[in-house]
Amino acid sequence: MLTKSFVAALALFASVHGASSTTNVCTEDERTANSQADIDNLSGCSTLEGNLILASTLGSATINGIVNITGNLIATNNSQITSIVAPSLATIGGEFELNVLTVLSTLSFPALTSVGSINWVTLPSVGGLDFTTGINSSDNVYISDTGLSSLDGINLTTVDNFELNNNLNLDDVEMGVKSVSNHIDISFNGNTAVSFPSLVWANNLTFQDVSSLTTPYLSTVNASYLLINNTFTSVAAPNLTTVGGLYVQDNKQLTNISFPALKTVGSAGIEVSNNTDLEKFSFPVVQTVVGAIVLDGDFEEASFPKLTVVRGAVSIDSTGDFNCTDFNDLNSSGGIRGNDYKCEAASTTSTSSGTATATSSVASATSADATTTSTSVATTAAAAAATTTHKSSAGELAGASTFVIGGAITAFFLGLF
Ligand SMILES: *[C@@H]1O[C@H](CO)[C@@H](O)[C@H](O)[C@H]1NC(C)=O
Ligand SMILES: *[C@@H]1O[C@H](CO)[C@@H](O)[C@H](O)[C@H]1NC(C)=O
Ligand SMILES: *[C@@H]1O[C@H](CO)[C@@H](O)[C@H](O)[C@H]1NC(C)=O
Ligand SMILES: *[C@@H]1O[C@H](CO)[C@@H](O)[C@H](O)[C@H]1NC(C)=O
Ligand SMILES: *[C@@H]1O[C@H](CO)[C@@H](O)[C@H](O)[C@H]1NC(C)=O
Ligand SMILES: *[C@@H]1O[C@H](CO)[C@@H](O)[C@H](O)[C@H]1NC(C)=O
Ligand SMILES: *[C@@H]1O[C@H](CO)[C@@H](O)[C@H](O)[C@H]1NC(C)=O
Ligand SMILES: *[C@@H]1O[C@H](CO)[C@@H](O)[C@H](O)[C@H]1NC(C)=O
Ligand SMILES: *[C@@H]1O[C@H](CO)[C@@H](O)[C@H](O)[C@H]1NC(C)=O
Ligand SMILES: *[C@@H]1O[C@H](CO)[C@@H](O)[C@H](O)[C@H]1NC(C)=O
Ligand SMILES: *[C@@H]1O[C@H](CO)[C@@H](O)[C@H](O)[C@H]1NC(C)=O
Ligand SMILES: *[C@@H]1O[C@H](CO)[C@@H](O)[C@H](O)[C@H]1NC(C)=O
Repeated sequence: MLTKSFVAALALFASVHGASSTTNVCTEDERTANSQADIDNLSGCSTLEGNLILASTLGSATINGIVNITGNLIATNNSQITSIVAPSLATIGGEFELNVLTVLSTLSFPALTSVGSINWVTLPSVGGLDFTTGINSSDNVYISDTGLSSLDGINLTTVDNFELNNNLNLDDVEMGVKSVSNHIDISFNGNTAVSFPSLVWANNLTFQDVSSLTTPYLSTVNASYLLINNTFTSVAAPNLTTVGGLYVQDNKQLTNISFPALKTVGSAGIEVSNNTDLEKFSFPVVQTVVGAIVLDGDFEEASFPKLTVVRGAVSIDSTGDFNCTDFNDLNSSGGIRGNDYKCEAASTTSTSSGTATATSSVASATSADATTTSTSVATTAAAAAATTTHKSSAGELAGASTFVIGGAITAFFLGLF
């Protein structure tokens, strides 16, 4: 046992030492390897300055010798390649793109730590990553339609975009990321359990079809936070104080939402709609909502005890026994600054709705227009989300339309103000 690992350590030392002692930079704009011999031709290059393309004629590829590729490593449209192995490769400066490799099953990059961006689409036969050291640095990660059951081998501390969709075997995702400068979007995978135990802030977050979500330290979502169509029964963000907008829709089994520290909601507002089993919810310390509030569904209690100002519209539609009094009071005392106020519930429809209609008809035509826009944008966001579908065929995915739709939801949503 000891001897064995000692030998392994020696071998590792020898290979690392060997590579660094023969530092040799080869400059190629772009090298297309049509055969293993073409790849071996580069094995004397510790650094390949340029791009390496693995052509669709390759049935497997072993990249020996190269430690750094400054450009891209790309393999696309290859229906016969089963294995890509790079024992010494530590960095890929540009894009690591694997696209439509239908029988690829071995992806072995034991020394890889840093990749400019990861773009893997339609790799149905890749079940796991053999990334022993592990990637700890990448600006953008887009993984779609793969057979991956976990992302063991990728653990980043910061990232710009981290997007996973249509990976139907993906059971869980746990990553130590602390901040996300643009977007985490985890949508339409298998019923994935998601955990970001160290996440403090993200610009946008989108979770769809997720079975559990853990974000104990999340304190800010600068732009929008979307929770749509998930299967969890409860969701909590104990340390979340600020969101640009919060959108909780169509989570059919959801019975408990917990945002105990959420104080400020920005211009994208709050929407809680069509969560069939969510009877009661509370935003105990929300004080200000810059955008609109839209509550729709079969709830009986929606309390905002500290709410003093809503700059946008308020639209409440409850098929349950909801008491509109508190919102009516806020509206009559001028706390709802938007031009449209509506609170309709099974029990109190006529009174509150009548008051609302009277109030908004006094408002000027211009502001009424603005309000109409906010309301219809909320609907559009829902519609955009609803039109996103699960994808499976390689052809459809090559278009990567899910990527675009993810952005569209947020864009529409942000239009709320
Ligand atoms: C690599 O390929 C070039 C031509 O592309 C050739 O001149 C050179 O001899 C090859 N080197 C090796 C080690 O195969
Ligand atoms: C590879 O790149 C890293 C970081 O850019 C550098 O520290 C290392 O010396 C390079 N290795 C070789 C063999 O060129
Ligand atoms: C891959 O193949 C599809 C269909 O054969 C083609 O439309 C697409 O342009 C190809 N992509 C690349 C990068 O070669
Ligand atoms: C990533 O890992 C490498 C090697 O294990 C280490 O040298 C580097 O500092 C790490 N980088 C980050 C951002 O954690
Ligand atoms: C990710 O890395 C952090 C340290 O950077 C570590 O604490 C955490 O356990 C790692 N997570 C996973 C899932 O490997
Ligand atoms: C919550 O966030 C604040 C910063 O907003 C931070 O100081 C505090 O340590 C966090 N608490 C927990 C339990 O994460
Ligand atoms: C998001 O908010 C955090 C916490 O306030 C801040 O540190 C970060 O710079 C903001 N990011 C963006 C992209 O605005
Ligand atoms: C809802 O979830 C929070 C946080 O997990 C928990 O403290 C609370 O007891 C739950 N409420 C109910 C009614 O289950
Ligand atoms: C909630 O669902 C109902 C019925 O399916 C639909 O008419 C309504 O527009 C939905 N509300 C939102 C805000 O999506
Ligand atoms: C509705 O709430 C108000 C104040 O919160 C209360 O006075 C009133 O009795 C409630 N109405 C019903 C029907 O429960
Ligand atoms: C939720 O999922 C159902 C069924 O998968 C779908 O019909 C519906 O449009 C989805 N809703 C949203 C808002 O995406
Ligand atoms: C994330 O939020 C920003 C606003 O800061 C917005 O412009 C952008 O479109 C959003 N990005 C995505 C991918 O949703």
